[in-house]
Amino acid sequence: EKTAAVVLAAGKGKRMNSDVPKQFMLLREKPVLYYSLQTFQDSFVDEIILVTEKGEEEYCRKEIVDKYHLTKVKHITAGGTERYFSVANGLEAVSEDCAYIFIHDGARPFVTGQIINDALENVRVHKACVAAMPVKDTIKIADDQDFAVSTPRRDLVWMMQTPQVFQASLIREAYRRLIKEEEKLRTEGIQITDDAMAVETLLHQPVKLFRASYENIKITTPEDLVIADGILEKRV
Ligand code: CTP
Ligand code: MG
Repeated sequence: EKTAAVVLAAGKGKRMNSDVPKQFMLLREKPVLYYSLQTFQDSFVDEIILVTEKGEEEYCRKEIVDKYHLTKVKHITAGGTERYFSVANGLEAVSEDCAYIFIHDGARPFVTGQIINDALENVRVHKACVAAMPVKDTIKIADDQDFAVSTPRRDLVWMMQTPQVFQASLIREAYRRLIKEEEKLRTEGIQITDDAMAVETLLHQPVKLFRASYENIKITTPEDLVIADGILEKRV
């Protein structure tokens, strides 16, 4: 069974507040984006689709894909203004004969071979699965004045990570509908913030969460760079 990974690197990184987009910032002299691409390159995944901002394709080709011999990267395609547009563009570039598609944030450098293996095992059984971890802090739901209104049971609250992995036909169908119904969803106030949500909301397909790692962080704000450096230090 063929598998593909769509790696997303078309975001603006507003919360990072830096000149260089966060996926291209350096961790130990290599771009953030390099790390997850290398991990997929070393895995059983057959092809990688890299989605980047329009205009950054050449930079990615020269400074990341060619430089580090990431031979599984089959296409570098331009993303869109929202994450789901970037995913939709990436899905277009995946070979028709892929059975499973991994969708991964390029801003998440510490995905491991183990997580990728566990994802495959889960998607084979459940058709849709997401790398996740139980929350560590207590979570509160607040009202619009920032007063706490309820406290979900902590053992039932998980943080979503990536990869989010799907049977190819399922994720293609979810995104076809999402793009078609995008405006309607927006007027209904439904914001699709991850791939699993597209599958749950639009196809009513159950999505299995599987334990990944607390180190599988997303580089989002400047303090994440300090944590990332600590994680890398432990690895070498
Ligand atoms: N992403 C993308 N296309 C977009 C938005 C996001 O490919 N239009 C990607 C990002 O590059 C990142 C991943 O989706 O790898 C997760 O998004 P997030 O952490 O929100 O990144 P940004 O949108 O870049 O950051 P911010 O929300 O702070 O602007
Ligand atoms: Mg974002």
